[in-house]
Amino acid sequence: MQGTAVQRFYRYHAYVYDSTRWMILHGRRGAVERMKLRPDSNVLEIGCGTGLNFRYVLDRLDPSAGRLVGLDFSADMLERSRRRTAAHGWSNVELVQADAEKLDLGRDFDAVFFAYSLTMIPDWESALRRAYAHLRPGGRLVVLDFSTFGGWGPLAPVMRTWLKLNHVLTRRPYLDRMREVCGEVDVYHWLGGYNFTAVGRRND
Ligand SMILES: C[S@@+](CC[C@H](N)C(=O)[O-])C[C@H]1O[C@@H](n2cnc3c(N)ncnc32)[C@H](O)[C@@H]1O
Repeated sequence: MQGTAVQRFYRYHAYVYDSTRWMILHGRRGAVERMKLRPDSNVLEIGCGTGLNFRYVLDRLDPSAGRLVGLDFSADMLERSRRRTAAHGWSNVELVQADAEKLDLGRDFDAVFFAYSLTMIPDWESALRRAYAHLRPGGRLVVLDFSTFGGWGPLAPVMRTWLKLNHVLTRRPYLDRMREVCGEVDVYHWLGGYNFTAVGRRND
């Protein structure tokens, strides 16, 4: 079978993603709020999966002025996004199949969003740098993802191991690297280090 381990993983998980992930993937609405979108914003979601964040973004956009690009390298997950977009009649959503590590869309965005995707990307540092390069000056880079479960005592390694078995690596220096890329970064932790939302800005 072709593709990376994560693409193969989502070939099957795409079928059960929406019915299972609501239990574990939290903080979508709050993270979208931190993008500070305007009705005419252009937004890129990297690793958009089945499009579960789309409605939170689109609620803030004027359909005739603002635009959302959902990008994923899994054809199976993108197909779910495509169906969701068609079912809602969202006319200002564009779906792109591409690898975040090699991102090069030739345009820039007011906000770039990773939701529970950065921790699954092997060369996440390239993905982060390329995401930043796709921001217009003043644009926001928002990352929502699992943290290290620092306040979970003996359950912390259990959670981290379980996530690792699902291709999610929690202990890489996401926030340090984000600070190197963006400069100042605001970080919000939730539930004893269950997840974090980090917000950086393009400053040049
Ligand atoms: C846990 S899902 C998150 C989906 C969605 N953002 C959400 O909040 O429900 C992770 C997504 O990242 C995508 N992904 C992982 N590595 C990627 C890469 N290198 N390039 C593009 N997408 C990637 C996967 O295919 C998957 O759809």
